[in-house]
Amino acid sequence: MSRSSVWRIACFGGIYSNHLALAQALRDAKARGAQALFCLGDLGAFGPHPDRVFPWLHQYEVQCLRGNYDDSLARGLDDCQCGYTDPRDNYFARISYRYTYQHTSPENRRWLGTLPEHIRLEVQGLRVLMCHGSPRRMNEFLWESTTSTQFLQYLLRRWQCDVILATHTGIKWKRRLGPRQWFVNVGVLGRPENDGRTNVWYTLLDFFSDGTMKPQFVPVFYDHHRLAQEMRQEKLPEEFVQTILTGWWTTCLEVLPQKERRRGKY
Ligand SMILES: [Fe+2]
Repeated sequence: MSRSSVWRIACFGGIYSNHLALAQALRDAKARGAQALFCLGDLGAFGPHPDRVFPWLHQYEVQCLRGNYDDSLARGLDDCQCGYTDPRDNYFARISYRYTYQHTSPENRRWLGTLPEHIRLEVQGLRVLMCHGSPRRMNEFLWESTTSTQFLQYLLRRWQCDVILATHTGIKWKRRLGPRQWFVNVGVLGRPENDGRTNVWYTLLDFFSDGTMKPQFVPVFYDHHRLAQEMRQEKLPEEFVQTILTGWWTTCLEVLPQKERRRGKY
């Protein structure tokens, strides 16, 4: 940690039931001196045993907000609110959602319903707003290639903040919007980034005494073979398992803009 950093926090996005990556990220963030931990939503999806995520979040006192998946589970909706229209994506999204719903205890589903949609912080005069997709819509996809700086600056003004932190897309990115202003997509812990690598990511944020902030993406290497084994034991689709083992997305590709999709294999 830089000598003048006054506060360090860790932000985790989209856990997608990857309890092994979550445990590893929590240990890593603590070892790096994170003083507060935040989860930006989507605790379940894709992975095995969704209930295994909750004890880790409670043990480490992670402050969580409600993503679209959490919102759907809590309200007993029919789908995850990702808005897939491609029949193949929709097919796999439904398998993922049905499995997660059936394996999340009623008590945990109720708890998801108690989570706030936004978390606000003020550090050294810097106003931070955490959300899932965007401040205006929980399931809005803000991609690096298709989101204009002008629009992000509008969001800062409209929601009266200096820093917006989000997740939901599954691919981390950041953009400086002014001397102290940032938009940061903190990435996801649940599955790799469609780049042929098997690690996942979270974000450390350092706040300084002069009222500035610096984000840093941190890779998380975990036992992805064990996760794959658990997924197969639970009879989850082999397509989901292959993403964990290869680092390439095999489903839910329709939401990717052209530029992000060209980086992938499918
Ligand atoms: Fe999401």
